[in-house]
Amino acid sequence: MLSEEKLKGLEDRLQPEFQNMREATEKGYDDPRASINLPDDEKTLKQVKSLVEDKRQLEPEYLVVAGIGGSNLGTVAVQEAVLGKLYNQKNPDTKVLYAETTDSEHIGDILDIIESSLETGGNVLLNGVSKSGGTTETISNFEVIAEKISEYKDNPEEYITVTSQEDSPFHKLAEDKDYSTLEIPEKVGGRYSVLSPVGLYPLGILGVDLEELLEGAERVRERCLNEDIHRNPAARSAASIYVNQEQGRDIHDFFLYGKDLEMIGKWYRQLTGESLGKKHNRDGEKVNAGVTPIASVGSTDLHSMYQLYMGGPDDKLHTFVYTEENDREVRVPENPEYSNLVEDIQGRPLNQIMEAIFEGVNKSLKEQKRPFNVVKIRDRSENSIGALLQFKMMEMMYLGYLLNVNPFNQPSVEQYKDETREILKRGGRNE
Ligand code: PA5
Repeated sequence: MLSEEKLKGLEDRLQPEFQNMREATEKGYDDPRASINLPDDEKTLKQVKSLVEDKRQLEPEYLVVAGIGGSNLGTVAVQEAVLGKLYNQKNPDTKVLYAETTDSEHIGDILDIIESSLETGGNVLLNGVSKSGGTTETISNFEVIAEKISEYKDNPEEYITVTSQEDSPFHKLAEDKDYSTLEIPEKVGGRYSVLSPVGLYPLGILGVDLEELLEGAERVRERCLNEDIHRNPAARSAASIYVNQEQGRDIHDFFLYGKDLEMIGKWYRQLTGESLGKKHNRDGEKVNAGVTPIASVGSTDLHSMYQLYMGGPDDKLHTFVYTEENDREVRVPENPEYSNLVEDIQGRPLNQIMEAIFEGVNKSLKEQKRPFNVVKIRDRSENSIGALLQFKMMEMMYLGYLLNVNPFNQPSVEQYKDETREILKRGGRNE
């Protein structure tokens, strides 16, 4: 558990990093912490919005996002949180499909879906997103979808946008082919890039309010720069994760109440996994550091994981995310004939039932002395979600500092990518 004394010690330790963070806000994109300045970048926002406006004039029936890891998880997370997991089924003007891994069944389905639109004269946008421009899965899927669009359109370049680092081969190819291009600043790493054109362009196409998303992130950034750890939610949360890890709880369960928040859990899983999972520390010593992130959905996973969380080893810290206000009110009907099945739910809003579950879980964890943190977000608006993402990205930077690892690189991911390219070069399967 986190004593006041321990917290004070960590606050002292974090002082140089508070200073680095504040200095980073003055350096634009010239610092590894550059992503914290994305919400201020009015020039990029203007450019993205103008492209969004152009492409929306095509009245696209579908947007296909080809990207993986940091190049799509944030987009999916915001889309589902703000617009809903069932967004496509709600008959929006533009539906969205994500081409992530090279799963031929799934990509085959995407091809069938867009083809039935293209056949009847519909328009399909493709957004290829790859910072490096050389990720095998993304480029394979991008080519497949681009070819399908080209089968039906004489001017495929009108429908295709590439988001990549300026000097990448993907960016270069896009320019040669006259595709629209958007840039990812060099020092903004994939898993920190959701508020760059990586997320902004596809989310803008789907009608997400980009100003609000960025405003929420900017608002929370100011708080997360505070050198008083009690007033800095990111540093406070990093300290809690760090201390629990020291005490043997090296599993962090990000437990989000709400079906539509599930992908924020997956986004955070990547953020933690790749930022902290490091063989070497900053001094070059072999440490095999890491916090193992898991993501749970409340209350769904109470029915699959809670037994383990409460009854199993005391090796986890939970962080609950709870939404205070919901746009919709759905009530259980007043049906006396059901009242014998579950008492006291007749006529009640579902939110009240969720609140009772949330309180019940907290109470039982306290009784068992299992540690947990609570993050309350006002609602699921763009503003609140932008704030949550920024808070977590800054928490990760503070955690990297405390663990003395570089939270901005991912050498092991690069290693598998290189191995894959080598195997493909040799003509296929590794012998
Ligand atoms: O966070 C990261 O850097 C990685 O997970 C990348 O986002 C992922 O590997 C995709 O890389 P790229 O955007 O270069 O295609």
